[in-house]
This record gives sequence, structure tokens and C-alpha cells, in this order.
Amino acid sequence: MTQDEMKRKAAEAAAEYVVADEIVGVGTGSTVNHFIDVLADMKSTIEGAVSSSEASTRLMQERGIQVFDLNQVSNIPVYIDGADESDHYLNLIKGGGGALTREKIIAGASDKFVCIADESKLVDVMGTFPLPVEVIPMARSYIARELVKLGGRPVWRENFVTDNGCDILDVHDLQIMEPVKLENEINKMAGVVTVGLFCNRPADVLILGTPDGAKTVMPKS
Ligand code: A5P
Repeated sequence: MTQDEMKRKAAEAAAEYVVADEIVGVGTGSTVNHFIDVLADMKSTIEGAVSSSEASTRLMQERGIQVFDLNQVSNIPVYIDGADESDHYLNLIKGGGGALTREKIIAGASDKFVCIADESKLVDVMGTFPLPVEVIPMARSYIARELVKLGGRPVWRENFVTDNGCDILDVHDLQIMEPVKLENEINKMAGVVTVGLFCNRPADVLILGTPDGAKTVMPKS
């Protein structure tokens, strides 16, 4: 089975978490694109969606799914999104697609966060995937120097501007042993918009696509 087929399996399994007649939060990325296909087939059963990126908004609108502004909705029972890495506590690295800020906002505003991914995304220690950090453009070099002090090797994602008009630094060479501490440390640097560590608000459920079908992983306690 290909990696893309495993992503599809995870996306299909997420359908059971969608709550009838309610808003569903929708993430960004290739796994979520499969979920948007699934959601299009059940769009008459939901009130609509809130979106974490311009790309997902466009795709949902093309599929006839009604997209609401987050400020228009007060209750999001479930948020479905992918990840670049997850550890066994369902702490995540996200932002490979650059949508980390809006993803973190919707994850925070939702009652339940269901992460969908192929099995390669589950790791013992996060950091092999470079950690994305969205920064205000004028702060980019300053933040990069601060990230070096934390032991990382930040690389500017050139020719890329986020939906919020900001820059991304991808931080290589980290072994993230204390994810919550690192999230908090990076969050408090002036000029950081969002760090792509989702640990203060991890996923509640991880659905992994595997060659044997979708497997549900709950956070290790
Ligand atoms: C988007 O900014 C990311 O957070 C994605 O959710 C993440 O990169 C997973 O993407 P794929 O589903 O394409 O692997």
C-alpha cells in the first residue's frame, strides 16, 4: 500500500468523528485533502466547516462545503487535521504546509482534536522533521539567532509567505525531549507568531493509516 493510500484510510476513518448538524474544523495538507473528499460526500449531514488555510477553504468551496469564518461560530465539536510527526503522547509537529497558526487556533477552539496520518508519522522522539516556526518578517534573523541558542539550526523557508503574511523558519537538528517546555520557550520570544509544536494542546486521538487499515491510537498516560 502506498503512503497516499494509507493517508486515505486514515481520512476515511475520521468520518465517524464528525458530529451531525454541527460545524467541523478542517486542517490542511495532503491527508486532510482526502478528508475533504470524504466530507464532501456527507456535506448534507453537517452545518458546515471552519478552515485552517486558504488552500483548504478553496478546496471545500469547490466541493460545495459551506465554510464559516471562525468568528461566526461558537461550537466546534471536532477538529480533523494531519501532522508531520506525533509522539506517543500525541504531541505533534505541524506546519510542514505552513498553516500552523490557523491550525493551532482552530485546534484550541475545538472540543476534540482528531489527528489523521500515515503510520510513518508516529515517532518515539520528535525532531527529525524540521520544526516550523512562523515569525513576523522583521524578527526573522533575531528569532533565528535565539533558536540557535536552543541547539537548533533554523533555515528560512524562502519564497514562502504564510496566509498571515509572515515568514517561516524550519528548525533542523532538534531532539525534542521536553516538548511542552520547548513550545513555551519558543512561544515567548518576541516576534514569534506560532511554533509548530502542538503539546499544550495535543491531539486527543490519532488515526494512523497502515497497510492493515486504520488504527486508532490514544495518548500514552
Ligand atoms: C500544514 O501546515 C501541516 O500542519 C499539515 O497538517 C502537516 O504538514 C501534515 O501534512 P500532510 O498530511 O500533507 O502530511
